[in-house]
Amino acid sequence: MCGIVGYVGGQSAAPILLDGLKKLEYRGYDSAGIAALHDGTITLRKVTGRIANLCALTEDGKTVPGTVGIGHTRWATHGAPTDQNAHPHTSNDGRFAVVHNGIIENHLQLRDELQKKGYHFESETDTEVIVHLLEHYYRGDLKTAVLKVTARLQGSYALGILCADAPDQLLAVREASPLLIGVGIGSNYFASDVTALVAHTRNIISLEDGELAILTADDVSVFDCAGRPVQKSISRITWDVQAAEKGGYAHFMLKEMMEQPAAVEATLSPRIRNDAVCLDEITLSDETIRSFRKIVITACGSAYYAGCAGRYAIEHLCRVPVQVELASELRYNNPMIDGETLLIVLSQSGETADTIAALKECKQRGASVLAVVNVVGSTIARLADDVLYTWAGPEIAVATTKGYTTQLAVLYLFALYAAHVRGTIDEPTYAKLVRTLRSAPSGMQQALDLNPKIPKLAKKYHRSPSIFFIGRNTDYAVALEGALKMKEISYLHAEAYAAGELKHGTIALIHDGQPVIALCCNPAIAAKTMSNIIEVKARGAEVLAVAVRGTQEIASVADDLIFIPRMEPLFAAIVEIVPLQLLAYHVAKENGCDIDKPKNLAKSVTVE
Ligand code: AGP
Repeated sequence: MCGIVGYVGGQSAAPILLDGLKKLEYRGYDSAGIAALHDGTITLRKVTGRIANLCALTEDGKTVPGTVGIGHTRWATHGAPTDQNAHPHTSNDGRFAVVHNGIIENHLQLRDELQKKGYHFESETDTEVIVHLLEHYYRGDLKTAVLKVTARLQGSYALGILCADAPDQLLAVREASPLLIGVGIGSNYFASDVTALVAHTRNIISLEDGELAILTADDVSVFDCAGRPVQKSISRITWDVQAAEKGGYAHFMLKEMMEQPAAVEATLSPRIRNDAVCLDEITLSDETIRSFRKIVITACGSAYYAGCAGRYAIEHLCRVPVQVELASELRYNNPMIDGETLLIVLSQSGETADTIAALKECKQRGASVLAVVNVVGSTIARLADDVLYTWAGPEIAVATTKGYTTQLAVLYLFALYAAHVRGTIDEPTYAKLVRTLRSAPSGMQQALDLNPKIPKLAKKYHRSPSIFFIGRNTDYAVALEGALKMKEISYLHAEAYAAGELKHGTIALIHDGQPVIALCCNPAIAAKTMSNIIEVKARGAEVLAVAVRGTQEIASVADDLIFIPRMEPLFAAIVEIVPLQLLAYHVAKENGCDIDKPKNLAKSVTVE
């Protein structure tokens, strides 16, 4: 996704902007640019490709004078990745420069209107309409002009605005795209994400939709869409710069995989006291929890697969029907959602456009909304009625790992909490399961300790044109996430399939040497999955089985084996996914892939 940064203060802006853009690289982009204001003139530099190209073009910012400026990394949506389409965009009179993250949905009619008024467009982007509207509405008062412009825009935007007539000011506007203000001493900043701010300040203001901020070196003023002042609180970010760096690992993804036990521990421990789950941070009353007749979980990608895995625990323990819906589908299904529905929204970034849209749709239909997100103050967190944060810390790699497992941890916590409230679980079972869940970090660490064994398996499979992941029940839910991990970082085709379903057609694809990863971590149904392993073996498949210690009989049917610590089957996914994450990582490494920034992917998909 696009990322924007801004700086106003006493130092040269360009080097600070370039450094901020480097911190946003993980969001995925294909061009970058900066603009700074000096002596009434805006200097603009933008280029396709990596930020390194921009650094070379500007001699690390030395050739771009000025102590106030804006910067942008673009992930192309309207118009190919070209220098002309890169941001910032400038007005015909050179007075304004704008950077934008989001999509202006009515850009075509605005472009037509502005061209008829004589404005000249240089790019194919939707964003450029903004800068010409600014020129059109500006009569000397910048805030008034900006509010007139935003009143014309439909869609999503986080904007950074530079005006040659206001040499000591930056403007930042937010509508449905993330935008944070960094409050410094003698300097102020804006950025799409905290990782671009934390090196300069930990004091953050989260803008709400419709809000406009005016930044000078010594002040930040916020206004609503009617231009009325808004009082904002400052929150303090505890993440340090190192936490957002690689910490000595080869890739962010490996670092974040290894952080999973600590991340799950951080997510669980504040919410478990005396063998009981305490969710003090939610406002859902016991009576409301008892009143729910249905739970709908909605998300995208891995978050959706976390929902697929967590559903079993919630449904089994709470005895309430649980539907897991793709957010991008749910919003168009005319969903049967009402006041007796609990909607659980899963999102690491809290900014996924499809998930936000599904949340709004269901909220409108009366659902109570519980968000499970990792980014504090993110859009989904603020739109929900209640939030249970995952305390995973910054997740930089595009492929989520600790984001996924901490989402599972929260879903398991909620399952136990709600079951206890609803009285569908007796006290001894409740206490036992809470203790079992508490042991998850230890089981995950034991699974991570298998890491040295995985490269040998990766060498065996890394050239396979396709890989099947099969399993039943919760094993199948884990297979879905395991297949996605393999696809998104190693670029091998992978397909998750319900093990019992193979014989209904897909087994026709099993040929000699076809790799099949068989997940067999629920002893109650292991025999069934073993028979599926025998079926595919009979057709020439090469089977890697993932099983729990103690089910040694699987060694008689599989070619390769990974044993993980025995875990309550309802919660096993949180441990079982670990070897699949490691396998995908080492296959991708073997294939020389860009593991942290896979091609075509973005960390947070903030467009629909
Ligand atoms: C998973 O590795 C991908 N990065 C992607 O599927 C991701 O899970 C999905 O885009 C949802 O993102 P979110 O959790 O930030 O909403």
